[in-house]
Amino acid sequence: MLVIDNISKVFNPGTVNEKKALDGMNLTVKDGDFITIVGSNGAGKSTLFNAISGVFLPDSGRILLDDKNITFEPDYKRSKYIGRLFQDPLKGTAPHMTIKENLALAYLRAGETRVFSRISKKDEERFRDKLKMLDMGLEDRMNTQVGTLSGGQRQALTLLMATIVPPRLLLLDEHTAALDPAAAVKIIDLTEKIVAANNTTCLMITHNMHQALRTGNRTLMMADGRIILDLSEEERKAVTIEDLMIRFREGAKQELDDDRILLSD
Ligand SMILES: Nc1ncnc2c1ncn2[C@@H]1O[C@H](COP(=O)(O)OP(=O)(O)OP(=O)(O)O)[C@@H](O)[C@H]1O
Ligand SMILES: [Mg+2]
Repeated sequence: MLVIDNISKVFNPGTVNEKKALDGMNLTVKDGDFITIVGSNGAGKSTLFNAISGVFLPDSGRILLDDKNITFEPDYKRSKYIGRLFQDPLKGTAPHMTIKENLALAYLRAGETRVFSRISKKDEERFRDKLKMLDMGLEDRMNTQVGTLSGGQRQALTLLMATIVPPRLLLLDEHTAALDPAAAVKIIDLTEKIVAANNTTCLMITHNMHQALRTGNRTLMMADGRIILDLSEEERKAVTIEDLMIRFREGAKQELDDDRILLSD
């Protein structure tokens, strides 16, 4: 459903800071795939997501979604069918608005044409049902300002907002990295539940090797703007964290920032 065809992106070309962030990258994603992506710092993972979501145009190559060439489609149009989460739970929600106002915004972003000038009782019921799914009691706090929620609660809400109208493609960029371990586990569980419920096609960047091999059905490793390892569901079963680390070290060609690579649960 998604084809990344020979995409390249060079930052600061012709200067001392020139950086080839994507180097003739190719990737074909099947409908319903849940792909985890690992790679050292600066490998080009977030740049890949920026290219897919239209934050900038690639220097060359094409991006096709459902056979449609979206390479030059502006990001605000893509945001109707591509959901994206970041590491920072502060991104993706409006802190000074209430939970229910944020949910109304999420429907608008996804292209619901009705204007929520006033949130009706019926809307509130709909929001309540959605919030219950998070199992955090947020359905009883719909008038709470989002800025006062914990990081985990806020990331759960962001996940709900990004998927409230199921996107065609969900991009998760280390969306659990800033959370404490218990909250991270909860958000991963929720992610798997929501992705499975809608059979959403999903790409998830993570620095947690266990999470990468355990979540989804395919794992990619990136280095220097390319994919250096592509493991199918079957191949992942045979691979150990140690194997992955060896490839990681080869790919990184540099001292690893071991602090950021999580080898434990
Ligand atoms: N807007 C930008 N301007 C200049 N250079 C950039 C820009 N965005 C990314 N880069 C550079 O491109 C390279 C790839 O960056 P990217 O953010 O994609 O890495 P990453 O794989 O997501 O790394 P991390 O694991 O640290 O998040 C890096 O060298 C980065 O400094
Ligand atoms: Mg990144």
